[in-house]
Amino acid sequence: LPVDPFDLVIFGGTGDLAVRKLLPALFHRYVAGQIRPASRIIGVAREPLDDDGYRGMVRDALGKAATDLPQQCDDFLALIGYRPLDARKDEGWDGFAALVGERPDNIRVFYLSTSPELFVDICERLGKYGLNQGASRVVLEKPIGRDLASANKINDDVGRVFAESQTYRIDHYLGKETVQNLLALRFGNALFEPLWNASHIDHVQITVAETLGLGRRAGYYDRAGALRDMVQNHMLQLLCMVAMEPPASLSPDAVRDEKLKVLRALKPIDGDNAAQLTVRGQYRAGASEGQSVPGYLDELDGGKSSTETFVALKAEIGNWRWAGVPFYLRTGKRLPERVSEIVVAFKPVPHSIFEGSVGALAQNKLVLRLQPDEGVKLWLTIKDPGPGGLRLRHVPLDMSFAEAFGVQQPDAYERLILDVVRGNPTLFMRRDEVEAAWRWAGPILAAWAASNEPPRPYTAGSWGPSAAVALIERDGRTWHEDN
Ligand code: BG6
Repeated sequence: LPVDPFDLVIFGGTGDLAVRKLLPALFHRYVAGQIRPASRIIGVAREPLDDDGYRGMVRDALGKAATDLPQQCDDFLALIGYRPLDARKDEGWDGFAALVGERPDNIRVFYLSTSPELFVDICERLGKYGLNQGASRVVLEKPIGRDLASANKINDDVGRVFAESQTYRIDHYLGKETVQNLLALRFGNALFEPLWNASHIDHVQITVAETLGLGRRAGYYDRAGALRDMVQNHMLQLLCMVAMEPPASLSPDAVRDEKLKVLRALKPIDGDNAAQLTVRGQYRAGASEGQSVPGYLDELDGGKSSTETFVALKAEIGNWRWAGVPFYLRTGKRLPERVSEIVVAFKPVPHSIFEGSVGALAQNKLVLRLQPDEGVKLWLTIKDPGPGGLRLRHVPLDMSFAEAFGVQQPDAYERLILDVVRGNPTLFMRRDEVEAAWRWAGPILAAWAASNEPPRPYTAGSWGPSAAVALIERDGRTWHEDN
């Protein structure tokens, strides 16, 4: 169903995220018929472009999608405009306000796809020029700050202009199809919930592996590192979706209340235990997808940095459902493959009747693959078919979304942008969630900063430092491999 006409203003409109993700996502939704022609998309950045210059940039970014659908591309580009503006100067803002004011009935969305340092200036000017009208929404890209204090400041400053109900803190992992499917799987089936606790689940693993290196993002990434870039937000959100209690409904606050309780129940990792529970790494030169690639330090200007490009850690949730169940998290750049998955490993059967049989009993595992090849696998023990006695085998019940549904899944941003227009914040982080996540992540960062240990080196194209393997093997477990 098409959404109501909207004006979407993208601050940081010429940036990597806007060009690579947001505008293509909007084009796909346009082609799908969900964006009405009365809508407008206005890019804002400091570059001195005009509307046509920006449209050319968007056309290039759409690439093949644009050449395959030339008419639709032209129609889509006709919705797009551009305004050069500096968030820190008043120049040009009057004209911009007049432009936005031309369609008073459109839903207004201000998408801040800029460095968080600019959020405050942008919001202040949006307020000053009267652009925040009752139904306006503001979207904040992660990271919200770099620690609890800076996140609080951003939230306070933005909060002076936009109410919490107007504020959409985006975490695009929540828009991924499989993450949503986790809700359906957990709460739409009677099968899993009775087993979904410490009595039956041995441990959970969450892996988000990337083959990409630093790319053009040195300025941002070297100040952030993997814990701030991936763990504090995406990975904790995934953990929450696995671990939360059943919400009473899918209403935004019912879901977010339950996630918040999980974040608050995470056991602290700090100076006392960070050395045992966390491993951080930094890639050295190696090979990625068949190509030699430089090390992290070689990609930086100064060549010196103790920023981690890899993290593995063992988290625990101190509540009745999860007491004693480790949640092993790992993420990194320049790993051997791009794969994101959640593995829920169940406890073994209490008694084996298969003494003397060929083949061992293995753990049941539920594997949710976020990307690539979205799908769900349930690993079961079965009898190997055929005569010759009872031989046990471990095989997956395998559901691939592409095979089952035959369509490409929409990108996370496609869903989330339209959710903002619809005014549905369920899949967005509430202020208290962001704060609780920082409250847990902060002491880990502090412990690392206080130790004199640099991150452990790993070769680009490997699965991270060997200490990450030791982290899980010390507990008699291994990282899941899909075979
Ligand atoms: C972003 C991080 O939030 O997520 C990037 O800043 C990372 O460093 C990206 O590459 C991964 O997203 P996806 O959807 O490609 O897994």
